[in-house]
Amino acid sequence: MRTLRDIPALREALGEYRRRGQRIGLVPTMGNLHAGHLSLVETARRHADVVIATVFVNPLQFGAGEDLDAYPRTLADDQAKLEAAGCDLLFAPSDATLYPRGLQGLAQVRVPVVSEGLCGGSRPGHFDGVATVVSILFNLVQPDVACFGEKDYQQLAVIRKMVADLHFPIEIVGVPIVRAEDGLALSSRNGYIDARERDTAAELQRTLVALREVLEAGAPIEATLETGLARLREAGFEPDYLELRAADLTPVDATTRGAVLLAAARLGKTRLIDNLTLTLP
Ligand code: PAJ
Repeated sequence: MRTLRDIPALREALGEYRRRGQRIGLVPTMGNLHAGHLSLVETARRHADVVIATVFVNPLQFGAGEDLDAYPRTLADDQAKLEAAGCDLLFAPSDATLYPRGLQGLAQVRVPVVSEGLCGGSRPGHFDGVATVVSILFNLVQPDVACFGEKDYQQLAVIRKMVADLHFPIEIVGVPIVRAEDGLALSSRNGYIDARERDTAAELQRTLVALREVLEAGAPIEATLETGLARLREAGFEPDYLELRAADLTPVDATTRGAVLLAAARLGKTRLIDNLTLTLP
């Protein structure tokens, strides 16, 4: 696997793939890779001839006071994991390569409505940063297909809407959440969880599973979500939100069948997110 850090080298490699008529799959990441990321690489391999992963901790999507500086940077480890997963090329640009004129006055992509509320409510501007960097990566790589995890359910919805609205000729593939044995969704941020908190962390998924069961049996939504919030607080979380939305993230109404339960909660200094799809009666 080759690792490239600048745009001319990337363009040269892409030129070769295109001359050979190969279908290109893209897996954007911020690094500190785990089995969740590698499942995106495996999925991309099934949808493309050549897989390009990117590792870039995007400053534009971190708010003031968030963990930009603390975010784990483990490039050598990431390279070994990508290579073993069958990735063909890693693009790992610097901030100066992706944003040569800096962030001040940068042209940005905003995807209204779907970016609002949920994580967009607790992290203002976050999805503008995501949509902008993903647009830049799409323009640089011009992949045929790109894979994103369902763990970041709202992010996947934002990217699907952006691709549709801006006519990016790219197939977007959503990949199921990879979890630890106890159900905790794998995340680079799980490294912030200390040993004492680790058992509690899995309670986020257990709560969603319990709520899904009663909601699928027809329990009233408001009261059920209140119970869920109380259970999370009881376990030691500080919930950011716990919501039920239609699968496309529009509000639930009497006709909604396919739905998704979404939660974000703080456990000590770690912010965890998770979601579970379900079918309303
Ligand atoms: P990052 O958090 O590194 O995640 C990269 C990709 O891996 C995302 O599509 C995410 O949904 C997916 N992923 C993470 N954990 C997963 C899990 N447990 N199961 C399945 N997929 C999982 O998301 C980002 O980076 C950034 O916002 C990015 C899209 C790269 C833009 O900067």
